[in-house]
Amino acid sequence: MSLPQSDYPKAIAEKFTELFNQQPLIIRAPGRINLIGEHTDYNMGFVLPAAINKAIYLGIGKRDDNEIHLYALDYDDDHKATTDAIVRSGKLWPDYVLGVVEQIKMLGGEGNRMHRMGRIDRMLGGENDSAKGITTGFNVVFGGDIPPGAGLSSSAALECATAYALNELFGLGISKIDMVKISQAAENEFVGMKCGIMDQFASMFGKKDHLIRLDCRSLEYNHFPFKLKDVKVLLFDTRVKHSLASSAYNERREQCEEGVRLVEAQSSKLEAQSQNIGSLRDVTEGMLLEFVKPVNELVYKRCTFIVTEIQRLLKGCEDLENNDIVAFGKKMYETHEGLSKLYEVSCKELDLLVDLVKDDPNVLGARMMGGGFGGCTINLVKEEAAADLAERISKKYKVETGVEMLVYEVRIERGTCVI
Ligand code: GLA
Repeated sequence: MSLPQSDYPKAIAEKFTELFNQQPLIIRAPGRINLIGEHTDYNMGFVLPAAINKAIYLGIGKRDDNEIHLYALDYDDDHKATTDAIVRSGKLWPDYVLGVVEQIKMLGGEGNRMHRMGRIDRMLGGENDSAKGITTGFNVVFGGDIPPGAGLSSSAALECATAYALNELFGLGISKIDMVKISQAAENEFVGMKCGIMDQFASMFGKKDHLIRLDCRSLEYNHFPFKLKDVKVLLFDTRVKHSLASSAYNERREQCEEGVRLVEAQSSKLEAQSQNIGSLRDVTEGMLLEFVKPVNELVYKRCTFIVTEIQRLLKGCEDLENNDIVAFGKKMYETHEGLSKLYEVSCKELDLLVDLVKDDPNVLGARMMGGGFGGCTINLVKEEAAADLAERISKKYKVETGVEMLVYEVRIERGTCVI
């Protein structure tokens, strides 16, 4: 089941009362798009995402015992757990919630690893601290209109909604940036997907009609106005998600790390002191040519994409500042080319959708978006041509693949909040 977005708060409140005889607190956490800067987040580069008009709605209320009762409205499925021992559910959706619970519980314990590592600021339950963590069980009902598997970060939205809801419900005083880190850690450690910080950051920090230019190393960010006159952002959903998506994602991440190791090891032979480079953010194309290409051609290809993508994003931001959307759009096509040929995270359906629009003068830019291997392309389309284009491409896509593509017109909305 999927409802129109405006129906979710009411549907969730009703289901909540029916199941738990309680009124919930309701949180909205949006999905995201990303204009440019793909796979750069875990390489400490920049990204340019925005929160969108598709969201998860999550209702929450306290219980008298230590049980956690979860209900997914769209799947008509439930899961029960306890706050004492957080274990994997054996299904996917409950783990996004439980992973966040586990991370918040760690903020209260002795083994506060994230705090010790300086990754987050907040510890819970210390002396004079009124917030003692998750002190009782709780009930959750959630649902929303972010299509799962479409690369719009429905999982990050569910994690952010959970972190925000628990923070409100138990008065934990966790900052927004720490909620982002907790959500990312839940996905990395509990779900096992080694994602970067972009999706959770965008879901939490989104601002209406603005992009977020995020430096993934310092976590400094600024909101960029983005309301283009006469241009629409259309997503074309391939409706495919190839099964290697998360294993290939983790593999790409390892290949990038290998590239950094090779640069560090080789460059230290030339210089007296080993260079502490740490990430591809500080690596140049010249270094890759000299130190990586001769040793590992595949790693060289992967790293070349990342290093050029980080530069492309910075130039793309200048284009936007100069109101040069045509130059920006060209860079989106270049990003697609790199993701497809060098980083090899595209697939034939995504390539087809970009090929079908790339010579159309009404499409300023297009590329695959997100992790890859399925999901959506993002297209900047002249407003007057948008409806006709969507219809034409849908027909061609159906003929070539046999699949009905979906089209979403994106509006940029605010990030996670109580409604
Ligand atoms: C997924 C991950 C993000 C990011 C993108 C690719 O969405 O969750 O962290 O790496 O892929 O840019």
